[in-house]
Formats: sequence, structure tokens, C-alpha cells
Amino acid sequence: MKIALTIMTALMLAGSVLAAPFPKGDPKAGKALFDKAKCDACHASMMGGDGTKLFTRPERKMKSADALLKRVQFCAGQVGAQWFSEEEEHVAAYLNRQYYKFP
Ligand code: HEC
Repeated sequence: MKIALTIMTALMLAGSVLAAPFPKGDPKAGKALFDKAKCDACHASMMGGDGTKLFTRPERKMKSADALLKRVQFCAGQVGAQWFSEEEEHVAAYLNRQYYKFP
């Protein structure tokens, strides 16, 4: 029992060091949520057709993983997506892996 606990603790510590900013986020699930909520529609009309440019433009606003998650939460509110916090993390993880690449 003690050994199992030690191993578990060690794994958890290793996980927290190695994990990207959204350890619980699943980028695949995030992409599905992003598509389903039609997040792109609004951004695309702002960016002249290609909504992903919002995430890659030089003057993009997000400067940290934290800010990214907050923006996902805010924009999800705009579309009334009613995501759970895990789902917000999935979407943030997806956007981060695909575009932002915050460490
Ligand atoms: C009602 C229109 C609208 C919808 C729908 C929308 N967004 Fe946004 N989004 C915006 C606006 C406006 C900005 C800010 C653009 C700026 O700051 O220049 C933004 C910016 C963002 C950014 C930051 C871009 C940057 O500058 O780095 C992220 C991330 C984002 N939205 C995610 C989402 C997600 C996820 C969804 C789907 C839940 C979504 N948005 C749906 C309007 C929308």
C-alpha cells in the first residue's frame, strides 16, 4: 500500500512537470467542441473568411495559457455553449496545440 502510494505520488509529480498548460484538456475533444459550437463563424466574418487567422495573426491578444482559457470561457458564453469547465479546457488545449503553443 505504502509503495503504491509512493509510486502514485511520483507519477503525479512527474505528470505535473511534463504536462502542457492544460493537463486535463483533450485537444481532440476540443476540436469537436469548437466545430460544434461554430466558434469559427464569428471569427471568420471578422477576419475576412479565415477565422483561424485570429489565432495566428501577429497582433493576437492572447499572451498566456491563462488568458487563452479565459477567452475561451468568454467566447463560449457569447455562443451560449454552456460548456463544463473540462470542456473549456479541451478547447483551450486544442487551440493551444494547434495555434498558440504556450509551454
Ligand atoms: C459573437 C462572435 C464570436 C463568437 C461566436 C466567438 N468569438 Fe472568439 N472572439 C470574438 C471577438 C470579438 C474576439 C476578439 C478579437 C480581438 O480582440 O481582436 C474573439 C477572440 C477570441 C480568441 C482570442 C484571439 C486572439 O487574439 O488571440 C479566442 C481564443 C477565441 N475568440 C475563442 C473562441 C471560441 C472557443 C469560440 C466558440 C465557443 C468563440 N471564440 C466564438 C468573437 C466571437
